[in-house]
Amino acid sequence: MKVLLTGATGYIGSAVTEHLAAAGHQVVALTRSAEPQSGRPWHAQLIGDTADPASLAGAVTPDIEAVIHLAPPSGDADVDSAVIEALATPLRGTGRPLVYTSGVWVLGATGDAQEVGEEAPTNPIGLVGYRPQIEQRVLAEAAEGVRAVVVRPAIAYGRGGGIPALLVDRARKEGVPEYYGEEGVRWPTVHVDDLAELFVAAVERAEAGTVWHGVGESAVAVRDVAQAAGRAAGVLAAPRVVPVEQGAEVFGALFADALALDQSVSGAAARTALGWRPARPGMVAELTSGSYRPIEVFGAPEGPETDAEVAAIRRLVAEVEHAQQNELADRFLAVFRQEGPVWTTGHGKRLSGFEEIAAFTRKVLPGATAESTAVYDVERVLFLKPDVAAVNVRQQPVLPDGTRIADRPEGRPFYILVKEDGTWRVGAAQNTLAAG
Ligand SMILES: NC(=O)c1ccc[n+]([C@@H]2O[C@H](COP(=O)([O-])OP(=O)(O)OC[C@H]3O[C@@H](n4cnc5c(N)ncnc54)[C@H](OP(=O)(O)O)[C@@H]3O)[C@@H](O)[C@H]2O)c1
Repeated sequence: MKVLLTGATGYIGSAVTEHLAAAGHQVVALTRSAEPQSGRPWHAQLIGDTADPASLAGAVTPDIEAVIHLAPPSGDADVDSAVIEALATPLRGTGRPLVYTSGVWVLGATGDAQEVGEEAPTNPIGLVGYRPQIEQRVLAEAAEGVRAVVVRPAIAYGRGGGIPALLVDRARKEGVPEYYGEEGVRWPTVHVDDLAELFVAAVERAEAGTVWHGVGESAVAVRDVAQAAGRAAGVLAAPRVVPVEQGAEVFGALFADALALDQSVSGAAARTALGWRPARPGMVAELTSGSYRPIEVFGAPEGPETDAEVAAIRRLVAEVEHAQQNELADRFLAVFRQEGPVWTTGHGKRLSGFEEIAAFTRKVLPGATAESTAVYDVERVLFLKPDVAAVNVRQQPVLPDGTRIADRPEGRPFYILVKEDGTWRVGAAQNTLAAG
């Protein structure tokens, strides 16, 4: 399909562009700026400004087979309604899709209800006040022969961006991770690449007059998100909850209210009806050991294949951390190759072969985390061969609540990993205590 996309340069729009192109569609990007953008898989670029609906007249030419409207509202309900008019009119009677991007904030606080679905009444917070009216304006086009669809994304993360990046920045600035509102606040979340796949599914096969929640995880504790954001910022400290009035001084009242919004929202309908399969790591995992913490990579060409290998290596190191923190001997041992692995501990004890490593682990791991544990961050990956990697890890001692133990030295684990049968495993490992 030839798809007209507004908001194509944005956070979500960039991911949607890539996934549309990968699915074989042609993206016609509507941008404010006439500046040509290199490196974007756009079929064509068109100039237009959604704050000026007249500039959109003629944007939806007869060869445009679908429209995805991702640019944010202007702040003026009449202007935004006129934008829908301009985008929808040429589609009338064609059955072609118009996908409008709203957001889960139109539902307001979900209270005691769990995993609220698309049928729930809207109760928008101030920031998205008139958005339900725009949704209705779009859906009404179904009666005019437009395949009108609304997608309501949850809070998007991944690619090092979106709202979680703000929490990382704040943690770095303040030296302590922050979140806003009440202690128990929860966010529905979605990985931006999973969300982009939902837009592709919606444009390809959602029926006219339908609304879809783009939700990967229904209700993530924002305290955990903040702690992980702190970790991404290199700040190992217990998060502090900031009253919303204080948050307003940083973000403005409307956005602070949005950050403090407690919601539990379901994304089940899109999975069932559209076959959407959001499968990427959750928001906390992504902050802890994903795109918010760039690492140095050597010895392999830049590109999605290397990215995927690095992500798999980071998951392996996250598994080491998880097994250690939770005293899971079997899971810890499963990261090693069966064939002759070697592990030298931070105190210089060398364990040769799987049996020796297993016996030692089963002896020392139980009870090891009662008073302290450690976090493991990949810092550098050197691909010696496509399936052999030397990995430098930073190991920091923490209390069980994740707070850095200031007076205890760090470790510098070094792993030689081997990929066999599609899985990375530890062939050899050495830890060294960092003296200073
Ligand atoms: N990010 C989230 O977590 C989230 C969650 C729920 C809903 N949403 C909604 O999803 C949509 C996209 O969000 P995002 O996070 O990708 O936003 P973003 O990164 O700020 O991108 C906004 C995009 O819209 C374009 N745009 C802004 N004003 C425009 C105008 N007057 N005319 C034409 N284009 C204009 C921007 O183009 P320029 O390059 O010209 O600035 C940019 O491409 C928004 O409607 C947002 O409310 C986002």
